Amino acid sequence: MKIGLLDSGVGGLSVLREIRRLLPGAHLHYVGDSAWCPYGTKSPGEIQGRVFRIADYLLDRGAEILVIACNSATIHAVGALRAVYPLPVVGMEPGVKPAAERTRSGVVGVLATEASLAGEKFHQLVSVHARGVRVITRPCPRFVDLVEDGLLEGAEPEAAVDEALAPLVDAGADVFVLGCTHYPFLRPVIEKRIPRGAEIVDTGAAVARRVASLLPAGIPPEGRGTVLIETTGPAGRLSELLPKLLPEMVETAETGAVKWS
Ligand code: DGL
Repeated sequence: MKIGLLDSGVGGLSVLREIRRLLPGAHLHYVGDSAWCPYGTKSPGEIQGRVFRIADYLLDRGAEILVIACNSATIHAVGALRAVYPLPVVGMEPGVKPAAERTRSGVVGVLATEASLAGEKFHQLVSVHARGVRVITRPCPRFVDLVEDGLLEGAEPEAAVDEALAPLVDAGADVFVLGCTHYPFLRPVIEKRIPRGAEIVDTGAAVARRVASLLPAGIPPEGRGTVLIETTGPAGRLSELLPKLLPEMVETAETGAVKWS
């Protein structure tokens, strides 16, 4: 069973990591659109155009399930993809629902891209699942740049995280949603900088469980699947980033640049 994944860049590798953990026997083909990153500042039309192009590429190469490992792309394109493609399309959205269930202070902070936060789908999520809870949103474009540059620890990410979290912490948030797939790579920094007792919500593992539920019975969970990670940007850059982002996969994953036909 071949699973195709896409994101604006390397962020969706945080979702690939969860799927690999849960389903080591599945074959994974990932495309990161680093040449067009970020999606978070692009219009819905631009995002849809790129997502369709990459989805076609993955389908041509045998993907049987498509995972939109990007909140911005899901919010703006998942409906259109599902209407067109004859295969399961798994998307992801900021974890507003689990966050609203877990907050004790009644204040939830959602970190996500500008594009995600502006989407109608996001507003629906909040109005359906966060009644009676104060949801404070914060776009963090700097986090995406840091992850694309492989800057996952040290003074720069720490300052960016402090700056992003400050208004949420001041407002009393006790649950912080990582609503963009790049952000989990900064989780170790974020964890150290949220108030004591506060929680982080990341939906990557839930997406992996959803993918597992779609697989026909019989995929051996302990089998060895292949991992191909491609980028629309420079392949050399991706190979440099991989040891930082997915050290456990450096030996097994094949990397390269997308070869458009
Ligand atoms: N990783 C993406 C997301 O989950 C988008 C980041 C970006 O390109 O702005 O929203």
